Amino acid sequence: MKSQIKSRERVSQHGEVFTAEREVKAMCSLVSKQCGDYKATFLEPACGDGNFLAEILSRKLQAIESAPDYSVNSLVALSSLYGIDIQSDNVEACRDRLYKIWEKSGDFDDRTKFQARYILLTNIVHGDFLKPERIILYDWEFDSQGAARGKDHNLSSLITGQGVLNLE
Ligand SMILES: C[S@@+](CC[C@H](N)C(=O)[O-])C[C@H]1O[C@@H](n2cnc3c(N)ncnc32)[C@H](O)[C@@H]1O
Repeated sequence: MKSQIKSRERVSQHGEVFTAEREVKAMCSLVSKQCGDYKATFLEPACGDGNFLAEILSRKLQAIESAPDYSVNSLVALSSLYGIDIQSDNVEACRDRLYKIWEKSGDFDDRTKFQARYILLTNIVHGDFLKPERIILYDWEFDSQGAARGKDHNLSSLITGQGVLNLE
């Protein structure tokens, strides 16, 4: 079983105690409809190494696995997940973890893999959620060519409801 803490220092400095898998699954099941909707947007403001985002991504991918256009729709699913963490190693770990889940789920060409990496680089960000004015998130547009970065949104405007990102 994965440890819920990395060190005492990280617990005292950043409140870093990871949620156990059982609780993650139970909490995701409370919003199972949204977790099974590949387009529904999620923002994890203190994402750690991605316990919640990984579970949500797995559920989204499972929901579309036998639908047509899996390649582009799996990118849509990936692009619907946003994460912020104040510790850069957690941000890296979260991006890698989500990438591996996504990559394992299909047979993707190099261009699509590059787009997936780019989405994760942009959506899973290093920052202090308590200073939302410094955090920029982007939405995504899709066509037959794949993903293109859309409008940028300052997190503080999203919190005050002035942005257009559909954070459910
Ligand atoms: C309690 S852990 C939870 C991690 C993950 N959400 C989970 O449930 O397993 C809290 C996380 O919040 C991060 N964190 C603490 N303060 C933060 C802040 N002001 N802004 C962004 N992340 C923060 C820590 O680095 C840590 O990864």
